[in-house]
Order: sequence, then C-alpha cells, then structure tokens
Amino acid sequence: MTTPDPLTPVLTRRWGLPRSWSLETYEQHDGYAALRAALAAHPDQIIQLVKDSGLRGRGGAGFPTGMKWSFIPQGPDGAGAKPKYLVINADEGEPGTCKDIPTMMADPHSLIEGCIITSYAIRAHFCAIYVRGEALHCIRRVQGAVNEAYAKGYLGKNILGSGFDLDIVVHAGAGAYICGEETALLDSLEGRRGQPRLKPPFPATSGLYASPTVVNNVETIATVPAIVAGGSDWFRSMGTERSPGPKIYSISGHVERPGQYEAPLGVTLRQLLEMAGGMKDGVPLKFWTPGGSSTPLFTAEHLDVPLDFEGAAAAGSMLGTTAVMVFNETVSVPWAVMKWTEFYKHESCGKCTPCREGTYWLEHILHRMVAGQGTPEDVETMLDVCDNILGRAFCALGDGATSPITSGIEYFRQEFLDLCAAQSAVAQPEQLAELT
Ligand code: NAI
Repeated sequence: MTTPDPLTPVLTRRWGLPRSWSLETYEQHDGYAALRAALAAHPDQIIQLVKDSGLRGRGGAGFPTGMKWSFIPQGPDGAGAKPKYLVINADEGEPGTCKDIPTMMADPHSLIEGCIITSYAIRAHFCAIYVRGEALHCIRRVQGAVNEAYAKGYLGKNILGSGFDLDIVVHAGAGAYICGEETALLDSLEGRRGQPRLKPPFPATSGLYASPTVVNNVETIATVPAIVAGGSDWFRSMGTERSPGPKIYSISGHVERPGQYEAPLGVTLRQLLEMAGGMKDGVPLKFWTPGGSSTPLFTAEHLDVPLDFEGAAAAGSMLGTTAVMVFNETVSVPWAVMKWTEFYKHESCGKCTPCREGTYWLEHILHRMVAGQGTPEDVETMLDVCDNILGRAFCALGDGATSPITSGIEYFRQEFLDLCAAQSAVAQPEQLAELT
C-alpha cells in the first residue's frame, strides 16, 4: 500500500478514474487495503489512531470523531450487552451543500470501507446508511457498491477471514431536511415521523433502538481509510493544528466553475475562488456563506478568513458544511434571505414553538418587505423574533434559520431599510409574482 502524498487530493483522488465507483477500480487503487490493515489491529488501536489524527466531524459541527467513537461502551458482546450501531448520515440537505452525494456517486467504496473499519473499531455488527430520499441515483449507486462488497467478502460473515461480521443496510429517507438532524434521523430510521429527540442522552449512549450508536457524516467516514493507510502524522500534515486534514468544499453561485474542490482545512475564499476560476464574468463579490445558509454570511471583507473550524468562528461565522455559496453584487440581500427563510419555514418540523412560529413570522415579514410593503420597524421586529428563536429552539434548525437574517442585517442593514423606506419592491418580477 502506498502512503498518499499530502499534496495530492486524498478524498477526491479517484473521482476522475474510469468507472471510479466500481469495486474493480477501487481495488486497483489501494481499495480495501486499509481494511486489511485495520482488521489485523485491535479495535482500540483504530479508535486511538483516529483520535490521534484529530479528525473532526465533517457534517457541520466538527465534533472530534475518535472521541465520539470512544463514548461507545466497550466490552465483550454477549448476553445482556446492548448491540452497538453505526449510522451514516447521508441526508445531505443543507442549502448549497453538495459534497456527500458526489462522494457516494464517484467513490462509494471509500464510504463502505470506512463503515467497515469504523464498525470494527466500535464493535458494531450493523450499519445503516441513511441516504436523502430525493437522491435516487445515489441510493442505487451505494446499494450497488454494497452488493459488490458482499459478493467479494468485504461484508457479511467472517469478513476476510477475520471473524468479524457486519451487515450494511442502505435506507432511503423521504426528503425532509429535519431528518439530517441525527436524532430525527434515528426516529425516521425506526419507522417514526422524523422529529428531533431531547439531547442528552446523545446517540452514543442511547441512539438507534435506545442502543449505543455512532452517527457520522459520509465525508467523515470516507476519510477513515486514508487515515488508516497514511497514519495520523500524515493526516496532520494537512490543515491546521486544531482542524487537521483535507476537506471537500462545495462551491456554487456566481463563480466561473462551480463544483467540489478538495483543499486542506484553513484554505481561504480567495484561494478557493482562484481554483474555481474567479467570479463569474468578473462581476464583484457581495456576500457568501462559508458553510451553507445556516452559517452567518460573510462579505468581501472576509476573503482571507481561514476556512477551518476556529478561523470561521473567530470571524463571526461557522465552518458548517463548507458549502460556499457565492453571490455577486447584482443580488439583493433581503431577497436571498427571504428565499432561505422560506426554506426553513417549510422544513421546520413543528415540534417546538420558537422554530415553528418564528420561521412563519419571519417569512411573512420578509415577504412583505421584499414586495415593497415593509416598515422600518420590521428590521427590529425580525431581530427580536430571531432573538426568541436562537438558543430556544429544540434543535439546530431554528438557530440556523436566524443566521442569514441576523448576519444579513448586520452587514447590509441599509439595504433592508431602503427597501422599507422607499416602499419599493426588489426588482425581481418573476419572484414577486409568486408573492401576490
Ligand atoms: P452538535 O454539536 O449538537 O453535535 C455534534 C455531534 O457530536 C453529534 O453527533 C452529537 O451526538 C455529538 N456530541 C456532542 N456532544 C456530545 C456529548 N457530550 N456526548 C456525546 N456526543 C456528543 O451538532 P448537531 O446538532 O449534530 O449538528 C449541527 C451542525 O449540523 C451545524 O453546525 C450545521 O452546520 C450542520 N448541518 C449540516 C447539514 C448537512 O446537510 N450536512 C444540514 C443542517 C445542519
């Protein structure tokens, strides 16, 4: 097995190969070699390796992966012991986020190999991959790869003669954003309506069927084989001290070449824009999201902010899902904020009052504002509503819904006020038609 070179892409390195998704191609490029190495080690050594690597969750929150695994109670299986589960959150739904579905389409075996290694480490014998319901093509691709892995003895009983057994089930969600919240996902997986559970207890102690469960994002687990192959020092040679490793940034909006770009954590928007061919037609940047619409907006002032967990937070936002949505100066901030708010209002699960009622009223206010019927007090009213959601909602959806509004007003307050003072609608006739 060759140690991957830190200067070459790690997570996307197979994406351009012919039939990159097939087991044949995967095996020709070191595929499942990390699994063989992992099965020869003790499970605790794998947990320690991942801890040493500093890998942090790639779903948005950045929780240390090895630490999460170590919360799973260890000890022998057997009578009285609760089963342990691994659940992969493949319900990628954050606006602008497009990294997990491309990973599963281009390189599904990296996820499956990661699932087997992780299950071995946490002593789980059942793993569910919960894929976003609308992504039928992706569900088929992952199921096809799981079938190939079973046929080749990487899944099922006595994997590669190691005595370790693992089954993987690919589960199709039904297209609700809230089911990307890990406990709503677990409810959905159990056959109930997907709504968040109270935390704690965290899934690590009481997750799927009230058993210890690790819930990890696709990109997190697809990174694990590379860590096993390359070692923790190699992994730490990329990124920053507290946010090590490579990351897939999905770039959309007004850039010349939107798409997925792999870079070490800590890359800046200036560097990403260079990779993506710059601003489309050279029209200047106005605002952008570092990690999806749930992360506070940035502006052209933030071009050199390091996009790692600490850097984004220090500059007043969050790394989130590294979904970089780029908007040029032709875009009205209140209009963009209204579109995101429509999304949150539609996707609010309704379980808690601050989120259910708050997103409803925020959408109403933004609709009338963008239609030219707002009043200057509306800005303060929206901030007040946001204040009553932030930290008071049952899960992160409510908090996320406030981010574009509070940061939009922070950086572009005058644009909101101008809209109200002039009683003039945003000049986007096709959108306004929908509102009347
Ligand atoms: P969180 O910070 O509550 O938890 C992160 C992870 O760490 C969870 O798996 C949780 O179980 C675990 N954890 C935290 N504290 C723990 C403890 N004391 N003991 C055991 N386990 C613990 O964040 P949450 O609500 O899971 O995710 C919020 C993030 O999700 C946001 O930052 C947002 O960027 C991201 N997000 C991602 C989306 C996507 O499509 N990938 C969609 C929407 C939001």
